[in-house]
Amino acid sequence: MSAPHPAKILVVFGTRPEAIKLFPVVAALKADPRFDCKVCVSAQHRGMLDQVLEIAGIVPDHDLDVMKPDQSLDALTATLLTGLGRVMDVEKPNRVIVQGDTATAMAGALAAYYRKIPVDHVEAGLRSGNIYHPWPEEVNRKIIGAMASLHFAPTDVSREALLRENVAPDRVHVTGNTVIDALHWVTKRNAADPSLVSGLADVEALFAGKRIIGVTSHRRENFGDGMENIARAIREIAARPDVAIVFPVHLNPNVRAVMNSALAGLDNVALLEPLDYPHFARLISLAEIMLTDSGGVQEEAPALGKPVLVMRETTERPEGVAAGTAKLVGTDTTRIVTEIFTLLDDKAAYESMARAHNPFGDGTSARQIVELIAREFSSQT
Ligand code: UD1
Ligand code: UDP
Repeated sequence: MSAPHPAKILVVFGTRPEAIKLFPVVAALKADPRFDCKVCVSAQHRGMLDQVLEIAGIVPDHDLDVMKPDQSLDALTATLLTGLGRVMDVEKPNRVIVQGDTATAMAGALAAYYRKIPVDHVEAGLRSGNIYHPWPEEVNRKIIGAMASLHFAPTDVSREALLRENVAPDRVHVTGNTVIDALHWVTKRNAADPSLVSGLADVEALFAGKRIIGVTSHRRENFGDGMENIARAIREIAARPDVAIVFPVHLNPNVRAVMNSALAGLDNVALLEPLDYPHFARLISLAEIMLTDSGGVQEEAPALGKPVLVMRETTERPEGVAAGTAKLVGTDTTRIVTEIFTLLDDKAAYESMARAHNPFGDGTSARQIVELIAREFSSQT
């Protein structure tokens, strides 16, 4: 069989983190004459996805616009599967790319598999070993891994996890994580034109002289007691006059309801709308500590030399913990407060965590991924 020229690649994504981690891949594919790159967004997220599309200059070829307020996982997955399948029937791509572990990524891989279209998985092989932490992402990743043709593992740790699941070694490539490509791009852009991140000027002025802690939280397994505990911890931390909390609140209503009612009106807490990616990168650089349950922030904070306390029981990203730049603190209020105060008050503890360390690659992941896909086609001739 001869290789198609150009080869049609359909890149499928739907949420903020997928868009951040795939825009470098889309850019590399679009710049390469060997490929005809089509983009399909599910818009599982709407506002938070559109923020990234705009910054990255991506105009999708297909937009399924599936987001509904607070929809259930089964309704979302069913809508995604039929919608993404229809797009694949129209585009008839040679290969499909998905990223990470969202419902969109899982349904995109499954729709491709049902059509016998090879699926390439970016950020493959992350495993916590616990199917309820993170939930439902751990199982989404395993489902994609069972179908993927090429597995782009960010680190040796994720490669080893795939080999333990009997994935053939020649199908797994350690490429680093494309989030580092995105982070390099955005930090360079911010440095070249600081007016692009002037949206934080008010907060910077308000909290001048204070020690900033950047916070994000959105994990489904933390809904309920976990979120309440996190909110209580933030109130206790904000009682210190030397500290300020800057917290861009995720648009998920389960997060907003808790955080807005527990934290509104506190002098040292700025509850913000989700920041666009350049402003969020600016927040990490302003912060002394990041406190988060996010996956992506666990990768970005160490790359920028910021200690990150992770409000989870387990992590599928053990590299930061092993390097000493990330620490798992769970969602117990007292534990979160104690760990934050230790970092604020114990210089040695802080400095041992605040080392720029980059286990997730050197910012060339997208280029490597595109080359590996091209090699896959050339092996067909
Ligand atoms: C999703 C992913 C999760 C990922 C997270 C990143 C699944 C099952 N979950 O979780 O893996 O870590 O995105 O942020 O794929 N909403 C808006 N506007 C937006 C985005 C969300 O209003 O731009 C609200 C809507 O009411 C929506 C709800 O948030 O129904 C939940 O969104 P959903 O994508 O289902 O789950 P997330 O918790 O965002
Ligand atoms: N992020 C952003 N604006 C914000 C909060 C986060 O641009 O207000 C970025 C962050 O830099 C990271 C990504 O969003 O790249 C993480 O997304 P999220 O925490 O929603 O999902 P996860 O990584 O946990 O899947």
